[in-house]
Amino acid sequence: MNLTNNFPSHVGIIMDGNGRWASKRHLPRLAGHKAGVEAIRRTIEFAEEFGLKVLTFFAFSTENWKRDKEEVEGIFDIVRSYANTDFEELEKRNIRLETMGDISKIPSDLFQKLLEVKEKTKHNTGLILNLAINYGARDELVMCFNNLVKLGKKEITEQDIAQNLYSASLPDPDLIIRTSGEQRLSNFMLYQSSYSELYFTKVFWPSFKKRHFKKALKTFSRRERRFGGNHKN
Ligand code: IPE
Ligand code: IPE
Ligand code: MG
Repeated sequence: MNLTNNFPSHVGIIMDGNGRWASKRHLPRLAGHKAGVEAIRRTIEFAEEFGLKVLTFFAFSTENWKRDKEEVEGIFDIVRSYANTDFEELEKRNIRLETMGDISKIPSDLFQKLLEVKEKTKHNTGLILNLAINYGARDELVMCFNNLVKLGKKEITEQDIAQNLYSASLPDPDLIIRTSGEQRLSNFMLYQSSYSELYFTKVFWPSFKKRHFKKALKTFSRRERRFGGNHKN
């Protein structure tokens, strides 16, 4: 596959459909979230193979607290066990961990672990693995504007905004993939996605394989991004 001329730097993934994947199999919803971890592993491997710069996973939104306590706790248990098993390897793989969202509100051991691993991997130069946890774009913009107020700004620029978002150190996503057939952003990177290419697939997240990622990248490579400019042909 020739992706050299039009390859994204930053891919954001809205991992949706874990619950439906599970209910189709008469399994509890948490089994779907657990199976979703395998898809995360596959996707990271593929991103490394392709030399992607940034891979963002939308793991838990500011609205996901509305779910049953059992599911919310179960999701954090799964993230915790993923962190305990997989974060060890990040150093060896030269992966830098980043997060987006107010992670101070999640279980404190997991919060500490994320801070620790972010610090430990901050000089790594390979893939940036960006986990959006307790992330919501509206919440992010409110946080951003409050920061700017605290800085005493009377007038703000686009640059001020970009520099005070969670994603300040990252390029905007070139491609956003959403699984499960829903065609919406659900409060994901609303400011940063102004010119992102959107790709929707019906596949439920736990069934997302390398071939699906490849197909999304291939579709992306055929699109012409104009950023408001003229057509090339
Ligand atoms: C996405 O899968 C995972 C999270 C939002 C945490 P869902 O749990 O939303 O799965 P569906 O949409 O109910 O199938
Ligand atoms: C979006 O999925 C959030 C994550 C993938 C973490 P949801 O399942 O929460 O989105 P809606 O409710 O269908 O819009
Ligand atoms: Mg969903």
